[in-house]
Amino acid sequence: MKMDNTLLEDLNAQLNREFYAAYLYFAMATYFAEINMEGFAKLTKNHAKEELNHARKIYDYLILRDEKVQLLRIEAPDTNWNNPIDAINAALDHEKFVTENIHRLYKNSKEKNDYPLEVFLHWFVNEQVEEEHLFQSMLDKMSYIKDCTCEIVNIDRELKADKEYIE
Ligand code: FEO
Repeated sequence: MKMDNTLLEDLNAQLNREFYAAYLYFAMATYFAEINMEGFAKLTKNHAKEELNHARKIYDYLILRDEKVQLLRIEAPDTNWNNPIDAINAALDHEKFVTENIHRLYKNSKEKNDYPLEVFLHWFVNEQVEEEHLFQSMLDKMSYIKDCTCEIVNIDRELKADKEYIE
């Protein structure tokens, strides 16, 4: 089944958005490394790798569907974060933006009766729930004691020791 042109264009744009997300999280990892927050650097670098995996899933799917892959230009991320809370806030905002795009793709795949694409996107719909939760819960913890950076230092130490985030 050939993919509708609008859907194909948007799926290629989503491929680009996933690559951009990897770029954004590598930029965040650099920021955290520069301010010696090794735990947050580890988390965001790990997340960059996840984003590359999201891109790979879309890339492989386009090939599987015999559709044209378009590797569009990747924008440089805006890296003017004032502090760690600012950076994690930007991560959450970005994930909300990605969720909106995934939901639009999902809605349009249903409207165009592209059932294979609809089913493929289930994974991404669920993944976005996890991604928003990850950064929202981190932000909640970081904002818990507003006037004390000690909480952020504690979280950084915990992240550094967390086996889930493997180099
Ligand atoms: Fe691939 Fe964080 O969305």
